[in-house]
Amino acid sequence: MSASDLHPSDASGLSTPAGTRRRFFQWVTSAAAGLIGLSLAIPLVGYVISPALKRRAQSWVDVAALDELSVGKPKQVDYVATVQDGYLETKTQKAVWAVKQADGQVTVFSPMCTHLGCGYHWNEGEQKFKCPCHGSVFDLSGRVVGGPAPRPLDALPSKTENGRLLVMYKEFKSGATGQVEL
Ligand code: FES
Repeated sequence: MSASDLHPSDASGLSTPAGTRRRFFQWVTSAAAGLIGLSLAIPLVGYVISPALKRRAQSWVDVAALDELSVGKPKQVDYVATVQDGYLETKTQKAVWAVKQADGQVTVFSPMCTHLGCGYHWNEGEQKFKCPCHGSVFDLSGRVVGGPAPRPLDALPSKTENGRLLVMYKEFKSGATGQVEL
């Protein structure tokens, strides 16, 4: 009678105490390796994809000298903005409408009509902002005084510093009665 006849499973090493221990340690090693891999992978994946998921970065942009603006006379201010969109950094030409108040404060409007987003202009004779697309009309304060525009002109965050006008450019959904930032 041979040894394998007495212990048929010894040859495979599966059901002996030594085989069970080996399988247990293999399992622990695999689990530990998996956990280490996961703990390295999660931050790495976050680092790689987070810029793409971030909202378009917004920041203050110096757009004009305050003494270029006259009280009560809207001025279209053109400037070049650097836009960070995920990994992509692009330079784009932007424009805003700036209205200097008697107290020195400046109101800045988005250049897009709140109806369907066309560019509008200032009509000096009528003292109104007029949109050529569907005839919306806004007064100096941005209030709708004619046409289909559903809400006043969108005022943008702005501030003055050291004689300069700074603006934070934003875009809003056109056609909505309330301001919905895009
Ligand atoms: S887009 Fe200005 S009135 Fe329609």
